[in-house]
Amino acid sequence: MLQRARDDIRAVKERDPAATSTAAVLINYPGLHALWWHRVNHWLWNSGRTGISRFGSQLARWFTGIEIHPGATIGDRFFIDHGSGVVIGETAIIGNDVTLYQGVTLGGTGKETGKRHPTLEDCVVVGVGAAVLGNITIGRGSKVGGGAVVIDDVPPNCTVVGVPGRVVVRSGERVEAIDLHHEDLPDPVVEMFVCLTRRVDKLERRLARDESLSEERGEPPFPFDAAQDEPSPDDEDTACKI
Ligand SMILES: CC(C)(COP(=O)(O)OP(=O)(O)OC[C@H]1O[C@@H](n2cnc3c(N)ncnc32)[C@H](O)[C@@H]1OP(=O)(O)O)[C@@H](O)C(=O)NCCC(=O)NCCS
Repeated sequence: MLQRARDDIRAVKERDPAATSTAAVLINYPGLHALWWHRVNHWLWNSGRTGISRFGSQLARWFTGIEIHPGATIGDRFFIDHGSGVVIGETAIIGNDVTLYQGVTLGGTGKETGKRHPTLEDCVVVGVGAAVLGNITIGRGSKVGGGAVVIDDVPPNCTVVGVPGRVVVRSGERVEAIDLHHEDLPDPVVEMFVCLTRRVDKLERRLARDESLSEERGEPPFPFDAAQDEPSPDDEDTACKI
């Protein structure tokens, strides 16, 4: 047990350059405190004392801002950096050497029962504010980018980013990007309106010009002979091409 605690402290020092001494780690790292609370709570949970273990997990949340359900299974050298806002669900399984940053949720989708939280294999890193939802597996060594929402399995050694999460790097190789700029897709209805507005504007200006010419010539403004209405060179530009 002591060896395990030493490993936990070493993991913090290795993964956070700001962790300069063992004392600083012991005092200043809520992620470490939450992990140790959880070990006790998990033991209580497994020995059937579910009520007290749930209470213990809420106490830990109160002190650390990190909520870990006592049923969650967590491996060795788990590190939560900064901590606040991390939520780990009951059926989550976390391997060894996993790192989470603040604001990460390992939660359920609300549609599943039984095993409904994710499995993180060894050496997974989940970036700040990411949500990993449902009974999915994040493969060994994969990275989840900050702010991602992952709802599908991720193979080992991948980087997944975005909402919904998509794999952008697989075993060090960039995955061909898909154009996800939906906001840039043409909207035919809007284009039609723009075209019609431009056309009306043009016609109004031409009408105003013809009316003033008619006035100068002393002709009545209406009706005028449409055949004499010479097409302007930029008529072509304003024609709706949709
Ligand atoms: C995802 C991450 C781990 C980088 O992984 P990586 O495998 O080195 O990936 P890359 O940096 O090569 O980025 C790959 C692509 O994903 C994009 N990307 C990286 N992180 C992203 C993110 N969080 N959200 C959206 N896109 C992201 C990059 O722009 C790049 O896109 P491109 O191919 O169009 O240029 C990192 O960007 C990240 O989000 N880390 C979280 C760190 C964290 O939480 N820190 C908190 C400290 S308090």
